[in-house]
Amino acid sequence: MSAEELTRRTGRPAVKLASNENPLGPSPEAVRAAGQVLAGLHRYPAVLADDLREALARHHGVSPQQVLVTNGSDELLRLLAETYIRAGDRVVVPHPSFSVYSRVARLMGARVQQVPLNAGGAMDLPAMAAAAQGGDGVPPARVIFLCRPNNPTGGVFGAEDFARFVEAVPAGCLVVLDEAYKEFDDTPFNGPDWLDRCPGLVVARTFSKVYGLGGLRLGYGLAAEAVWRPVLAVRDPFSVNAVAQAAGLAALADREHVARSVELAREGRQFLTQLATELGLRAYPSQGNFVLIDVGRDAEAVHRALLEHGVIVRPGTSFGLPTCIRVTCGLPEENRRFAEALRAVLHQGDGA
Ligand SMILES: Cc1ncc(COP(=O)(O)O)c(C=O)c1O
Repeated sequence: MSAEELTRRTGRPAVKLASNENPLGPSPEAVRAAGQVLAGLHRYPAVLADDLREALARHHGVSPQQVLVTNGSDELLRLLAETYIRAGDRVVVPHPSFSVYSRVARLMGARVQQVPLNAGGAMDLPAMAAAAQGGDGVPPARVIFLCRPNNPTGGVFGAEDFARFVEAVPAGCLVVLDEAYKEFDDTPFNGPDWLDRCPGLVVARTFSKVYGLGGLRLGYGLAAEAVWRPVLAVRDPFSVNAVAQAAGLAALADREHVARSVELAREGRQFLTQLATELGLRAYPSQGNFVLIDVGRDAEAVHRALLEHGVIVRPGTSFGLPTCIRVTCGLPEENRRFAEALRAVLHQGDGA
């Protein structure tokens, strides 16, 4: 149900904490930049989003040739699958995690092997590296997908574990490290720092989360130039529209908005984790702009009961977590509305 629909139904502004969006919205600079492009919409956009590509290269300390700007990171994930995965290839994905990895791999006819997260809700890197090995007639994995911080748990792995993982990955295996939520992460690990050490590494980033531009569809990948060459042959030339390119450039430059957004998520994580503790529920340790809470009962029922209070969260059912809800860090007043609603729902025994 959309927030607008729920607002109409309950007669009170709905609180949407379901899609890990930025509750502050986009940077005002990005909105202004988007508006300035409108009069020139008769022109096709730059094929490789050159200005944004160069700004991203400077931001990450890589060369522009190592950057590919895409129509959301969803397009990047699909392009990588279309380029590198053939029917019958083995692909290793974490579970539970972002569903698009399995979806794009299966679309290409891959055999997908899911590797469970560790107890802390982060990737089990030794198990993933082991799953990727070939032998006894089994080919090594073609692609491994990693998500850090992981959606929906918010868990992260450390640099030492990743160093061992990089050593253990079979030669020729593409490692796709999705850092959609990296900006919210307090740890020093940074995917792009590993590009030199791991020639088959692709780091996926998005403007949909900390930059608050999900509606525009803008993402990008960082990798060795050689990784992109075959991808460029597959990609549609005009997939990233001119408004998104201009808004992305302005959003990237507005570091103050990014800092405010990160701080808000940090406070939200603390608030939601504390709330769960007070209610005797388990909150997964999160470095994202969301917290996964095990409500210890049917999450779909809790989700429906929360809707009655005008609050939308994401039930964990689709992730294979039937007693968990994923709650996006909202504005302080939105977090309080959620807390009030959850207390009421649990108190009434709704969803028990
Ligand atoms: C881990 C992860 N990667 C990628 C995306 C999608 O990003 P985009 O909007 O850039 O396609 C999401 C969106 O929720 C996500 O959670």
